[in-house]
Amino acid sequence: MVTATEAQHPAAVIEKLLVDPASHTIFPPLAMRVLTMASDPKASGKDLKEVIEVDPGLATRILKMANSAYYGIRQPVRSVERAVVMLGFGKVKAMVIGFVLSSTGKTEGLTFPEYGNFWRYAGAVACSARSVADRFAPNQREDAYLLGLIHEMGVLLMRDSLGKVYDDVLAEAVSQQRCLYEVEKQRLGITHAAAAKVVFEKWGFPPAQYAPIAHHHSDRISKVFGREENLMFRILRVAVYLGLLFENDQQRALYANKAFETARAEFRTELEDMRAIISNTAVEYRKLVQFLTGLEASADEFDAAAEKARQVLAAA
Ligand SMILES: [Fe+2]
Repeated sequence: MVTATEAQHPAAVIEKLLVDPASHTIFPPLAMRVLTMASDPKASGKDLKEVIEVDPGLATRILKMANSAYYGIRQPVRSVERAVVMLGFGKVKAMVIGFVLSSTGKTEGLTFPEYGNFWRYAGAVACSARSVADRFAPNQREDAYLLGLIHEMGVLLMRDSLGKVYDDVLAEAVSQQRCLYEVEKQRLGITHAAAAKVVFEKWGFPPAQYAPIAHHHSDRISKVFGREENLMFRILRVAVYLGLLFENDQQRALYANKAFETARAEFRTELEDMRAIISNTAVEYRKLVQFLTGLEASADEFDAAAEKARQVLAAA
């Protein structure tokens, strides 16, 4: 832990962040293996299967997912290996990370200024990013999903490294209804976006993952990054607003408009396309919530959010 005085120096915060990843208590060994695998282009379906099988709860969910009506298979899938092949490596990898981190991320009792639950929001942005990528960069769809899922991880990393100092920053942002990013800048001299970049870069994540995360609160990415980083950044920008649209029912109209405005600027998205992206996100997001909670989620809540957003955009 660092003291409040130390914490105001970004260098001291960075030093704490860059400790051995294994010492970040928010990540149990299983999560670390999955995270390491996520950044390893050589990781195979077999490696993934081995990680999944360590956790019976996770293995059951993957099988349940593969056997769900959505995939319309005739023969029941009984082995994890077969399920991984069927669902696709990218999809399972991202889902495993979501599952492992959501069940171990120690976010209980945390409240955020713009959204309620940390993992629901991360999931909403992940599904949004995949829907946007489906339209504009289909080859990047699973990377986009993973990017959405981990884009706020800096928050957990900072909290893990700074303890109460960071909890006070969070509480201040919530009580004063200020943007967390601004309070972090003022109190710590470093934001969760920059913190995530420092850590993910050290862990060997590719720039296409950490560069968009580093800039997810700005409207442009640094010029030092290339085409791929740029594309992922533009996808994440739209997805952040789409995710808020689903998770902040008070300001749904505001975020629906912001999502559309950003998509129009970044991808020249037409209204009809945007409406389709929103509907698709609602379907995918519901499936994710179902996967993470293991419970059947009713479509109503997701459909209602999507319908409201579509109406707002049509009226604008
Ligand atoms: Fe953020």
